[in-house]
Amino acid sequence: MTDDSRAYSPGLEGVLAGETALAMVDGANGRLLYRGYPIAELVERGTYAQVAELLWTGEWPVEAHLACAPVPDEVLAVLRALPPTTSPMDALRTAVSAWGAARRLGWPPTVNEARAITAFAPSALAAFARLRDGLEPIRPDPGLPLAAGFLSQLTGAPPDPAHARALDAYLIVGAEHGFNASTFAARVIVSTRSDLASAVAGAIGALKGPLHGGAPSEVVNQLHEMGTAEEAERWMRDALARGERLMGFGHRVYRAYDPRAAALRRVAESLAGSAEWLGMAVQVEEIALRLLAEHKPDRVIQTNVEFYAAAVLQGVGLPPDLFPATFALARHAGWTAHALEQAAANRLIRPDARYVGHGPRRLPV
Ligand code: COA
Repeated sequence: MTDDSRAYSPGLEGVLAGETALAMVDGANGRLLYRGYPIAELVERGTYAQVAELLWTGEWPVEAHLACAPVPDEVLAVLRALPPTTSPMDALRTAVSAWGAARRLGWPPTVNEARAITAFAPSALAAFARLRDGLEPIRPDPGLPLAAGFLSQLTGAPPDPAHARALDAYLIVGAEHGFNASTFAARVIVSTRSDLASAVAGAIGALKGPLHGGAPSEVVNQLHEMGTAEEAERWMRDALARGERLMGFGHRVYRAYDPRAAALRRVAESLAGSAEWLGMAVQVEEIALRLLAEHKPDRVIQTNVEFYAAAVLQGVGLPPDLFPATFALARHAGWTAHALEQAAANRLIRPDARYVGHGPRRLPV
């Protein structure tokens, strides 16, 4: 043991580990701003392409177009070699890694690389989703924006405009959220002067963990288990009595209503196809908030982004096991913007650890 009295915060909680001009996450007041613009306004008036450009360059473009890029042959060969049982997050991480190997990226990362990897990832995920079903991948239509291009590569049909718009809104809401675990992982990797594909592959690995990116498909599972709104109260009371958590509620940072949940609820309401499912979700939310307030009177537990993310993703027809990887597609804009920001004022991220092991000793004879 060494005598080290420096401040230590497990999990780096509360530690300022860097500076960013990208997102302001104001948990106490339930506000989220990207470069100063409120998330609700960005969802209402912007597109994912505009929001991504804003994050990368700092400028709000009057118009922006970001289409899905084709999957290079080298990457398709890797995706074909994966077993169909591979989790979509693992497939996406592998595809990004193979893409980086083929591209041989350098340092520092550039805005064009950020655009390229963000445009490539939806095509790679759609290609894998088709391959595991025994279908051939479809080349992206360069005229379609990212969300529409992703949906049409999944189904092989022209996307429903309302679905494309709803998914675009979901991508905006998921694009960026400060120094979360996956973003921090990306910044650590870039800080070593490693390349952008390595940073994004590492970020996907961090997002894969159930403490970070796994909740929306569990929201769907819980709603299915409840069955009907009438059954929901008994189901949730029993779950809380067993010490289980209600998925889609509570947040480490937000104490007020998560502004992303509010924005996505409006999007979900615009989806005619999800009307019945949404009606149940709205009733479940009301009951859940009432029960959680009774269950934890001293703690504010509000609806989080995952609850209405599940409603939107279900409404646009995505299978629940693609939800986490679709979240990863959204976060590409944020990860790559952080990589650019880190590289622009780089300092190797290398914290210290408090040593709690043995003092010096001799090997046994
Ligand atoms: N359902 C039931 N109880 C909950 C709860 C939920 N969704 N969220 C928090 N609580 C309870 C905890 O059981 C804990 O009770 P305890 O002190 O008796 O053990 C208390 O509230 C504090 O929980 P804690 O995990 O310390 O709070 P946190 O702020 O660190 O938790 C989450 C944040 C997101 C991990 C937590 O709210 C959660 O697990 N939510 C469900 C999963 C989810 O929706 N995740 C997506 C996040 S975007």
